[in-house]
Amino acid sequence: MSERSRDLPRRSCLSTPGSSDRFLAKAPQTSADMTFLDLEDSVAPGEKVAAREKVVRAIRDHEWGERVLCVRVNAWDTPWTYGDVIEVVGQAGPRLDEVMLPKVESAAQVVALDLLLTQVERNAGLPVGHIGIEAQIETARGLINVDEICAASPRLETIIFGPADFAASIEMPVLTGGVAIPEYPGDHFNYVFSRILMAGRANGLQVIDGPFLKVRDLDSLREFAQRTRVLGYDGKWALTPDQAAVLNDVYSPTQEQFDRAWDILEAYRTATDQGSGAVMFGDEMIDEASRKMAIKFVTRGTRAGRSRSAN
Ligand code: GLV
Ligand code: MG
Repeated sequence: MSERSRDLPRRSCLSTPGSSDRFLAKAPQTSADMTFLDLEDSVAPGEKVAAREKVVRAIRDHEWGERVLCVRVNAWDTPWTYGDVIEVVGQAGPRLDEVMLPKVESAAQVVALDLLLTQVERNAGLPVGHIGIEAQIETARGLINVDEICAASPRLETIIFGPADFAASIEMPVLTGGVAIPEYPGDHFNYVFSRILMAGRANGLQVIDGPFLKVRDLDSLREFAQRTRVLGYDGKWALTPDQAAVLNDVYSPTQEQFDRAWDILEAYRTATDQGSGAVMFGDEMIDEASRKMAIKFVTRGTRAGRSRSAN
């Protein structure tokens, strides 16, 4: 299902308020790998219904290139979810890749969206399964149920952490979402990042970190994003085009890593062709597990447009 977008890169995922024609017009010109047009928290309640048509027009009229294109609908505990899906997916045409569901708390909420999407796709003449799902974990209950949520539908392509709503849900005493807390000796979200990562990877999903709200401080964004990059996340939300450019860099393997990964693959292939399962590579022993690690760098680097340096 959702074959076009499932494996595309999502190093940077740009949030674009669906009620703003100005932002909707600018979004296709940024370098973000993925863009989501928002009907949820960046749209005022009085603008929710009018924003649907703006989003539909933007999807149909703008040239979005290869990027993953998504719409974030409102959560199931609001009056807007079904209307968002029926109107936007029903009218947007085939270029829309996915729907993002915020504040997911149970597998049933994903299944409900899957069933609704199937009806809307049939009525709109889209292939069944065309629209993928991105699910946001942003409450204590969502985190507790993250394993079942990640396994709830073949439409799921990513699982996303939402640090601002999550901090509110667990009553963490912070007033700015998704930034470091200097008084805390370590990473206050390490458990949450790891928990979501395990559930996502066990179900073959891409795993994405949420927003960093200090939008003018690009150095701090770069530093903070290392936490999920090092754990293995695929990317992070961007709130501005400048944030997207930083994140494209952070979540790509360096040229040095990319070249080294290729060298490992080559050395290991030569060794296995000659009948050995483990071989020295410089002062390191490499084996089948090393091949598996290296292949991830090659896949991500290739996805990020890298090519191997000449020797
Ligand atoms: C994102 O939606 C967040 O709440 O951090
Ligand atoms: Mg949120």
